Order: sequence, then structure tokens, then C-alpha cells
Amino acid sequence: MTVILFAAGDALWPEYEGPLRRALEQAGITADLVCTAAPEDVDYIIYAPGSPLQDFTPYTSCRAVLNLWAGVERIVGNATLTQPLCRMVDPGLTEGMVEYVVGHVLRHHLGMDRYILRATGWQQIVPPLARERRVLVLGLGELGLACARALAALNFDVQGWSRTEKPGLDIPAHHGAAGLETALRRAEIVVTLLPRTAETENLLDAERLSCLPSGAVIINPGRGALIDDTALLAALDAGRLAHATLDVFRVEPLPEDHPFRSHPRVTVTPHIAADTRASSAARVVADNIRRDLARLPLLHVVDRQRGY
Ligand code: NDP
Ligand code: OXD
Repeated sequence: MTVILFAAGDALWPEYEGPLRRALEQAGITADLVCTAAPEDVDYIIYAPGSPLQDFTPYTSCRAVLNLWAGVERIVGNATLTQPLCRMVDPGLTEGMVEYVVGHVLRHHLGMDRYILRATGWQQIVPPLARERRVLVLGLGELGLACARALAALNFDVQGWSRTEKPGLDIPAHHGAAGLETALRRAEIVVTLLPRTAETENLLDAERLSCLPSGAVIINPGRGALIDDTALLAALDAGRLAHATLDVFRVEPLPEDHPFRSHPRVTVTPHIAADTRASSAARVVADNIRRDLARLPLLHVVDRQRGY
């Protein structure tokens, strides 16, 4: 019998147990889904960051670790993990991210705060059409591309940027360091959907932030470390950036006394841009186990060298 260890933490077990059992059954997998097991008996590990399981050495029969999170920066460098690591690509999570990004882009594009938060009398400031608003999505993976396409469907003038070139993509795209500067120079709204890796750490530093047109807005649901906090605050204080909507931070929960909390040009959301949804994610996990048991290649395997 296949032994599947749920090591994503006790708090998630009540939410995931039912969906996982149903998804495994639907996938035709007869498995022992457990929260504790002798390590040497475990075939697959369902994982989440913050799990007490940090040493994978005793899991000698484990064929794969299936992460419930899209981001893997907290596990990818674990030297005891020698098995394939699969990250979460969940249709529910993607839908949630598209809604978050579209909502926050529209807020800034339409200047909603002007009318919702401030009494402006009868000052008619008509926003441009979406086709006249230049949006840049940094990261054209599962989430970035879905967001870019949703924004393009609303007529936004969207461009994207990624590590590798993407010939033939339906979104105009830049790549590499030179492409980033070109892309930033035209971007009125920047959405960051990159993973945290050694290459992306502090990607938006003072120099790159200064490439943005005056009055630009940043929306960061990717990872806090993508942006240099000090440089961001300086650009906001100087009024060169109009606003930053931040969902992710170097330290979470964001400390109460962090300058982002009280800054008039910063909106803080508490890492809620997109959650993995148990019902759809359970199907993704079960399908990957089914594939591996059938000796088909696993999906969404993390490249340990690249870090995502
Ligand atoms: P993917 O791995 O599918 O896509 C990552 C994208 O980033 C790819 O386009 C990749 O380029 C690009 N990229 C990576 N490194 C670089 C680099 N050095 N320079 C330029 N581009 C780079 O990830 P997802 O879209 O699924 O997720 C993105 C991130 O979103 C996650 O890693 C996580 O941090 C965050 N996230 C946040 C959530 C929230 O609630 N706030 C929820 C879920 C995820 P290429 O295509 O060339 O490989
Ligand atoms: C994720 C996240 O990576 O929630 O899945 O940030």
C-alpha cells in the first residue's frame, strides 16, 4: 500500500483530509494517508513551509515531496531533500491571484481612492481608458502570465518580463537584465510575480525603481525580498512612486512598527493575494502521485539549481 505522509502541519489537516481522500480515490489510488509514519515506509510527503519536518534523510523510500505552496524558497535549499520537489500549481490559487491583481490594478488605474477615501467635492478627474494604461508584469510563469492575460483582456497595455525569452507569446515580453530596464521605463503599474531566488533578491533596488516613470504604482504579491524596502520607502517619500500595494514581506506577519504599516502611500494586505484551495489542490497532488505510480513524469518539479 502507498503511504502518503501529510506533513504540511496539523493546522491544515482538517481542511485537507477530506479533499485529499476524495481526490486519491477518484485518481484510483489505494493509499494510507497519515500524519505520522515510520519514515522508511513513506512513499510521498505532502508538505508546506513551516512544517516541523526539516530533515528528510530518514525518508529513504520517499519518491517525491509535494509542496502545497507555489513558492519554494523555504525548502528548495534543504540539503537533506534529495527527492524530486513539486511545487503547487493550483487552478484555484491562480484564479485568486488573477482576481487580486486585477482588483488592485483597477483601483489604481481608476483612481478609486480619490472618491472612496477623500471628499473631493465635484472635481471631475476622468481616468484614461485601460488601453492607455501601461502595465508591466514581472514574472510570466503560472501566475504572472494568467494575470497578464486577464489584464490584456480588459484592454490594458500589458507587457511582461521573465528570465528566459518567450518567442510567440501573446503578451509582448522582455527578458534578462537589459529587457528589465526597457520594460520599467514605460511601466505605470508594475506587478511583481517572481519567485524569491538569489537572482531576484532586491531586484527592484534604488536604481531600477528610478527607471519607473514618476507617479508609477507597484503591486507586489510575489515575495517581499524582490524589492529593496529602504529604496521603496525613499521613492514613496519623495513622491516619485505614487503607491505600493504589498501582500508579502521579508518578515511575516509584518511587524506592527514597520514603516509600511503607517505609510500613506502603502497598502498592506496580509499575504492573502491567493491561497491554495484544498479541493483543487488535492486533485493536483493526487494526479501527480497517480502519474508517478504509473511511472509518468511528475508535473511542476522544481529546478533546484534555478531555485524555482
Ligand atoms: P512560476 O515558477 O510559474 O513562474 C516564475 C516566473 O518568474 C517565470 O516566468 C520565470 O521566468 C520568472 N523568473 C524567475 N527568476 C527570474 C529572474 N531571475 N529574472 C526574471 N524572471 C525570473 O511561479 P508562479 O507564477 O507560480 O509563482 C510566482 C511567485 O508568486 C511564487 O514563487 C510565490 O513567491 C508567489 N506567490 C504568492 C502568493 C501570495 O498569496 N502572495 C501565492 C502564490 C505564489 P522563466 O519563465 O523564464 O522561467
Ligand atoms: C505560495 C504563497 O507560495 O501562498 O503559495 O505565497
